[in-house]
Amino acid sequence: MTNASLYQQHLDKLDTYLTDAIDRAGRKGVHLDGVLFHAGRERYYHSDDQPIHFRSGPHFMRYVPLHGPEHCVLARPGKRPLVVRVAPRDFWYELTAAPASYWQDAVDYHEVSSLSAVPTITGPLSRVAYVGNSPAAAAELSITDQLVEPEALMAPLAWHRGIKTEHEIELLTVAAQKGAAGHRVARKAFESGASEREIYWAFLEAADLLDQEVSFDPICALDEKISILHYQNKRGRDTAPGKVFMLDAGATHDGYCSDITRTWALDSASKLYRSLLASIDALERDLVGMVTPGRPYLEIHLEAHRRVSLLLAETGLVTTSAEEALETGVTQTFLPHGIGHHLGLQVHDLGGHQESIDGGRLAPPEEHSFLRNTRTLEVGHVVTIEPGIYFCGVLLDELRARPEQKIVDWKLVDELIPCGGVRIEDDVVCTNDGPMDLTRPLIQGPRGL
Ligand code: GLY
Ligand code: MN
Ligand code: MN
Repeated sequence: MTNASLYQQHLDKLDTYLTDAIDRAGRKGVHLDGVLFHAGRERYYHSDDQPIHFRSGPHFMRYVPLHGPEHCVLARPGKRPLVVRVAPRDFWYELTAAPASYWQDAVDYHEVSSLSAVPTITGPLSRVAYVGNSPAAAAELSITDQLVEPEALMAPLAWHRGIKTEHEIELLTVAAQKGAAGHRVARKAFESGASEREIYWAFLEAADLLDQEVSFDPICALDEKISILHYQNKRGRDTAPGKVFMLDAGATHDGYCSDITRTWALDSASKLYRSLLASIDALERDLVGMVTPGRPYLEIHLEAHRRVSLLLAETGLVTTSAEEALETGVTQTFLPHGIGHHLGLQVHDLGGHQESIDGGRLAPPEEHSFLRNTRTLEVGHVVTIEPGIYFCGVLLDELRARPEQKIVDWKLVDELIPCGGVRIEDDVVCTNDGPMDLTRPLIQGPRGL
């Protein structure tokens, strides 16, 4: 199927979602004829004339992949989306037309030079809700405060964002391809002795990305820095080469994100570490196999902890049985984050804790508070699966101060601290025919495909 026909199918699906969301809002007393999705308003650094890099809002981007502030989509049940691109007459920036793309023929497309001109195209925006980052923009369009992102509308919109259309899976696949191309070259750079900075640049170049086109700031860590879950620095040559390397990075394509982690070790890294790396890679593949419709995502997270407890017992890192290790909660020290999250127009896509289509919150169990997804998997959900094992100073110090410290072989732990840890992450679509791993076929893991 061509991109244009997939996109048309996507819009048809969005129309059913919009109709449902508007009906649900109506049952809660919020009566709407349509929704104005705003790309958003640019913001500036404090006391500065430099804008913070702008990303069009995700609800807007679900309709059209149009980058830049102020653009609008008016969506009304049963009607073609009305897209208004705001292109100021301005001598500071390039004023090119939107490049021809698969989406333009399926929408009613207009250009104006300011947001205030949008109603000349859309007509009066009464009984229209505003979805975007700027209540001030809503006011400029004469949309009342009550209709700025009303909860009764936002809950079903968020819920529906969890189910990706075929068109969205295509865009996620391209984002995966770009991200994987970066990862393949990053691995080679690490193996040839590059620094964190150099590997980061190699990733960007191979993935064909500008800084602002990554899906999040890449986590590019050599050796002990791997233990810092969201390690934000990129060190220079004085800390290279490393023996162990982890890259957690992804690309965007038309707003859709990939989120991939690979960890690699040279043969000179500790044998125990290399065996842990192979085990986490095997564990990750098993967990990917659990991405099936009807399964509470929490089950995958709990299975990861069970398997990490086995690993701790098998390697002698704990001196008790795996069951006892699990009961004491020490797996939380070695795997302190959630097993993954929804992935889409946001790298941590929204709605992971939503209880039902009409809202509510399904919190993760208290001892697993960092789990970002408590929903039950459905066909069309796209999630990451990202188990790991870490030797993180802050968490190990906490454990050393607890009675359970006595079940830990600290000599072995101390041997592993310079290696930081391991994380392996892939992007997986839940389908009726089993999990569809978007990333593993494109970038092998430490034990191959
Ligand atoms: N990079 C953050 C994550 O993998 O969720
Ligand atoms: Mn990641
Ligand atoms: Mn992730």
